[in-house]
Amino acid sequence: MIVSICLLVFFGCGLNFAQPGDESYVSKTEFDALKEKLENLETKLRDTEIRQINSDSQIAELKNQERTKVIFSAAAGGSGNIGPFNTETTLIYRAVLTNIGGAYSQYTGIFTAPVAGVYYFTFYSHGGGEQRAMLKLYNNNQFIVRADDHPSNDPADNGGNAVFLQLQQGDQVYVRLGENCHVWGGSNVTTFSGFLVSQL
Ligand SMILES: *[C@@H]1O[C@H](CO)[C@@H](O)[C@H](O)[C@H]1NC(C)=O
Repeated sequence: MIVSICLLVFFGCGLNFAQPGDESYVSKTEFDALKEKLENLETKLRDTEIRQINSDSQIAELKNQERTKVIFSAAAGGSGNIGPFNTETTLIYRAVLTNIGGAYSQYTGIFTAPVAGVYYFTFYSHGGGEQRAMLKLYNNNQFIVRADDHPSNDPADNGGNAVFLQLQQGDQVYVRLGENCHVWGGSNVTTFSGFLVSQL
């Protein structure tokens, strides 16, 4: 802006005081062309400035997201069967292996999303085969995915499932053991894990 005012004053003076044929003489056409060029430059400069401000704020936002880390893994724990119970029961994974961000509670078995975003959850289970081994993952009160293994003579039942979920802040994700089902708690064979993939 300042540059353009100076140049306008400079060329303006040329227009006022120089006469056709003088070395400093600038014709009206030349003046208008220069003025247009300057105006174009100014517009470009403004656009560049706006882009710079936008990318600065994007960088700040990304840095902020980078700080929000949510990663957890927990094993059911104990030394034997969990269940069977005659009602569906929230499985509390008591042995925390990782809990960055503290969003998983080893006391309730519930993961609470600290920020809105896309999260990945996975759960695996092992059971002895005497009972059905069914686990169901819920988002709030909504059933999402399950792993299921029916009783069989094979003494080792393994199951698992995984899901990406778009969560709002405060949404709760947990795994429930099906009615009359069991899983093995010991040896870290039955686990629940999740992490924040991307903040939204
Ligand atoms: C489960 O994993 C943790 C972490 O690696 C380990 O300290 C613990 O001994 C394991 N527990 C069993 C029963 O294997």
